[in-house]
Parts: sequence; structure tokens; C-alpha cells
Amino acid sequence: MASKLAPLFRSCVRASSRVAVRPQTSRAFSVSATRPSDSLNVHRNTPDNNPDIPFKFSAENEKVIAEILKRYPPQYKKAAVMPILDVGQRQHGFTSISVMNEVARMLDMPPMRVYEVASFYTMYNRTPVGKFFVQACTTTPCQLGGCGSDVIVKAIKEQLGIKQGETTADGLFTFIEVECLGACVNAPMIQINDDYYEDLTPESVTQLLKDLKDGAATSKAPKAGPLSGRQTCENSAGQTNLTSEPWGAETTRADL
Ligand code: FES
Repeated sequence: MASKLAPLFRSCVRASSRVAVRPQTSRAFSVSATRPSDSLNVHRNTPDNNPDIPFKFSAENEKVIAEILKRYPPQYKKAAVMPILDVGQRQHGFTSISVMNEVARMLDMPPMRVYEVASFYTMYNRTPVGKFFVQACTTTPCQLGGCGSDVIVKAIKEQLGIKQGETTADGLFTFIEVECLGACVNAPMIQINDDYYEDLTPESVTQLLKDLKDGAATSKAPKAGPLSGRQTCENSAGQTNLTSEPWGAETTRADL
């Protein structure tokens, strides 16, 4: 038996020694595309986003911030960092490093603590975005609901002439894909600034973007909500239950 196994053993030893001497540099550890991960959490100074650009809250927003701070005990005022960053983003157009520094100064926080919050939550745009910030939901319900988000994304890209993560040359539109925005029952949908536009088709989303562009000068925004004629998320085939008068107690309690 030992003599029968010996050649097999020797070939295994030879094979393993061949593997051991193979130069490791010739093998790739991964074949997936390289994606730079620093875009989400690293700040690089740019002409329009660096700490030398002064930022102060407007008098109107100072009042808003005073109201926000009333919700928190003075010793915990740093808990207001998120709503105050939001006020800063709305005033400045995006959450620049100067906005973060001003919030840190205002709340007596180390600037790094504010940077951590702003870089964790993707709702804070840390680079400039267009006047209309178009976020298309491409999570599964939107991908499967109605005509599906794939054709919506295609229509947006065709209409705007940009890809995900880009801004149009006129600075009007920035387009990104996002995960579920919580309006799955009206899929497919997109969010533009603070408004949801739902029950979309390629035609309706194209028209919506045209209307926004046309109304950009007058700030007239198309009505938000479902673009299918639904009021909210009621059954589009009409009411199928609760169609009769509600029963009174006399029906359910014969003893009364
Ligand atoms: S999956 Fe699109 S809103 Fe939920």
C-alpha cells in the first residue's frame, strides 16, 4: 500500500512546491472595478469649498437656529448639529467646510465631530449641486413597480444629457441614484429637492424635467405627488372595499 501511495504523495509535494514558488504579483486579488472610497469621507480644498471662504448664518436663519436650540438643554446643544447643518445647507446650497466649521463654532463642538456627522449622512451634500437635485430611487420596489426605475433613469439621462453624479453645464440639474425613499407604493418615483414625484413613466419624467427647466427663471415648480392622477396612494383601479355605510352597534350587538 505504502509503495502505491508514494508516487501520489510525491506528486502532491511537487505540486505544492510549484504553487509556493509561483510569483504572487502575477495574481490579482480582486477583479471588481476599483472604486475610490474617499469621495464620501474625505474633504479636499477646492476654489468653491475651502475653509478660507467665510460663512455666516443670515439674520433670518439665526432666528430659526435660536428656535431649534430651545428644544435642547443648553448643556446638550450639540444634539442640534443635524438640523443646524440642514439650515446651513439650505442657505449655502451645500454643506461646505465653512458651513461645518461655523456649526462647530456655534455649538462648541470640535470641528471633527461635525465633519463626522456631515460625512456619515448622505443627505448632506458636501459638494455643490444644481438648482434641481434629482434623486432617482432604484431600489427593488421602484425597479419592479409600474414601468420600473431602469427606464426612468434612462429617460432622465437622455433628457439631461448627464450621467449619475454629474451636473448639467447650466448648473440647473444634478442627478444621482439613491436607495428607497419610502414611497414604494407609488413606484417608480424620484425626489427633486424636497418634493416627491411619483407613479412616473418615461414620458412624464421627461415632461417634468422640461417644465422645471422652463420654470427655473420664474421658480414655478410643477405640482408634486403622483403624476398618474392618483391623489395619494389609493388603489388606481378604484375603491374595492369599505364601499358600504359602516355598521352601527345594532348590527354587531343584537342585545343592545
Ligand atoms: S423602493 Fe423606491 S421608494 Fe421605496
